[in-house]
Amino acid sequence: YGDASQKIDYVFKVVLIGDSAVGKSQMLARFARNEFSLDSKATIGVEFQTRTLVIDHKSVKAQIWDTAGQERYRAVTSAYYRGAVGAMLVYDITKRQTFDHIPCWLEELRSHADKNIVIILVGNKSDLEDQRAVPTEDAKEFAQTEGLFFLETSALQSTNVENAFMTVLTEIF
Ligand code: GTP
Ligand code: MG
Repeated sequence: YGDASQKIDYVFKVVLIGDSAVGKSQMLARFARNEFSLDSKATIGVEFQTRTLVIDHKSVKAQIWDTAGQERYRAVTSAYYRGAVGAMLVYDITKRQTFDHIPCWLEELRSHADKNIVIILVGNKSDLEDQRAVPTEDAKEFAQTEGLFFLETSALQSTNVENAFMTVLTEIF
């Protein structure tokens, strides 16, 4: 967790997208503040948090944007994607529907964001293995076909969350 007083060499905007309740806000809370809450409220509109890290001896301010998965709470889409250099496409490994919607999210992303944006597909809630509805192989294959990075995470157990954000940030870098 970087020193706030240091000079910033780069600011990278990364956007989180995916269905409601897949855990986008809790992934962000884990990454930015190392916090997690089980009674997380649905996001309304847009929020963002930052964390400054050192990558290759440069200080990078990661500005992570989080929006509502629910259509009725979503803010203007083009503004959300503007200037984004990275994106995390999140689904819930226990809810097949959230994975089936990924192509729609990807289409929205590709139609609004810069064409060079770095994208990672993230299957969250890997702690709920006994309720798994999306085989890892299905997601891996989809990611490979679409040219996306891929990881399964648990915001609850703090598994791979850091890794997922760092994969995007170092690739941007
Ligand atoms: P919207 O803001 O509506 O788009 O939802 P969201 O994607 O931001 O989901 P949120 O982070 O609010 O999490 C939804 C629910 O899933 C909450 O009850 C979280 O505590 C829970 N949750 C998030 N991540 C995990 C995880 O890794 N494991 C488990 N078991 N639960 C999780
Ligand atoms: Mg949210």
